[in-house]
Amino acid sequence: MPHSIPIHTFPTSPTKSALNLVVNGKPVTIETPLRTSHLTAAGLPRPYDPGYANTAAFTSRITYIDGSRGLLRHRGYPISSLASKCNFLEVAHLLIFGALPTTTQLSTFQAALFTNPSSKVHGDVQAVIQALPRGGHPMSALMAAFSAISAVSPQYNPAIVGSRVYDKLSVREAVICKVLAHMPAIAAGVYRHSQGLYPLFLDLPHDPGMNFAERFLRLVNGTTPHPKIVQALETLLIIHADHEQNCSTATVRQLTSSGVDAFSAVVGGIAALYGPLHGGASEGVLRMLQRIGDKKNVPAFLERVKRREERLTGFGHRVYKNYDPRATIIRKLLQNVFQVVGKVDPLIEIATTLEQAALKDAYFVDRKLYPNVDFYSGILYKTIGFEAEFYPVLFALGRCAGWMAHWHEFLDDPDRRIARPHQRFVGELGPKDVPHISERDADKVGISPDAAKQGITIAKL
Ligand code: SDX
Repeated sequence: MPHSIPIHTFPTSPTKSALNLVVNGKPVTIETPLRTSHLTAAGLPRPYDPGYANTAAFTSRITYIDGSRGLLRHRGYPISSLASKCNFLEVAHLLIFGALPTTTQLSTFQAALFTNPSSKVHGDVQAVIQALPRGGHPMSALMAAFSAISAVSPQYNPAIVGSRVYDKLSVREAVICKVLAHMPAIAAGVYRHSQGLYPLFLDLPHDPGMNFAERFLRLVNGTTPHPKIVQALETLLIIHADHEQNCSTATVRQLTSSGVDAFSAVVGGIAALYGPLHGGASEGVLRMLQRIGDKKNVPAFLERVKRREERLTGFGHRVYKNYDPRATIIRKLLQNVFQVVGKVDPLIEIATTLEQAALKDAYFVDRKLYPNVDFYSGILYKTIGFEAEFYPVLFALGRCAGWMAHWHEFLDDPDRRIARPHQRFVGELGPKDVPHISERDADKVGISPDAAKQGITIAKL
């Protein structure tokens, strides 16, 4: 690597203290952080926690969220300060390497991303994208592309060069730079493919004065973007960069626990983010607003939500039980971008009517449902000029920094072990005799209670 970046390794596990309990009349002292193994060792049943709603599965120093107060901080810096005072690569450096960069460190980091020959998109990766149907969802193409990057990067693959390959910090640095350099190039190539613009990958020499968002926008359409549009997208990338153990980041960690290569772990993160309950919600909000069509239809729509016939996409959050601070930042950005494009998107009126009505409605207030990061981001992406199905790709463009920060941190975690949760078994214990196939007609052997419950009969399988 022509440039070296100081990568800090992380100290060991957090402080310990003790919890004194009485279990079945017997005093039990449990050290904290409370591990579920302490509970089972004390004779308590194993906790059952669908969706990990009450389980801390990882230890991290990267991001802190206080959901009840609507706080989001990266290594102690409030998101509003980072969004107004830094560019995306400064925040990426903070997340990944643990400190805001100096001027020299930032230019070294940027040069390591965009001047390195390994940052070029391999011809076989380009061919994979080109082979996909133009009308396919861009997130499928993004997954395929990162899978292809794994295939053309055997030197970074533990399955090929050994499980200790990531022990070398220079290898981690190379992998981190490869992911952060490829995400904008691949995203732009996927967009151009979907629009029938060729060549897919424009050659854009490194310019130290060009920030991450501008580079990406130039790779998308080869022209000079408006500075306010660049600033809006750079801020969007910052506020999407990391969000502690969200579904996609936890997926990257879970895949990393199996020892798989980093690019394949990123494929898993992209897949999780694609989901309509996660990053796909940005696309879902736009389609929801388009379906509502006019602000006069908002009351009827909310009634359908309350009857559970619809979901108010862009509202609600596992952690925030208050306003998502990122939604506030995006709302402000919208005004700047509307000025540039010279018109206000009519969907914004439907969105604000929806928000004001929901925030006054007991159904949403009682459930602490507030706008999340996705509620306004779709309108902003649309105003910048992207189609709805591309919004989760733009989410991944920022989130790749968080994924790599957690990947890097987890590799140093003394608690790292393969993720393999238990289950609550509620099936038929058996042992049951296996009937010969000739004996398996539904009317002869009867249907297993499980299959019957699911309406499956052997005859229909
Ligand atoms: C992101 O984790 C992260 O940090 C994610 C993220 C990040 O930066 O990585 O912040 C990005 O993914 C934001 C969330 C985007 N998703 C959506 O906007 C989809 C709509 N939201 C929901 O589906 C839901 O709120 C979740 C998925 C976000 C959270 O789900 P939870 O925590 O499992 O909450 P839940 O489904 O158990 O809901 C609790 C109650 C339920 O009602 P009851 O059964 O108790 O009567 O609230 C209701 C839910 O029905 N509810 C909603 C709702 N969200 C929750 N009702 C209507 N509309 C909604 N959006």
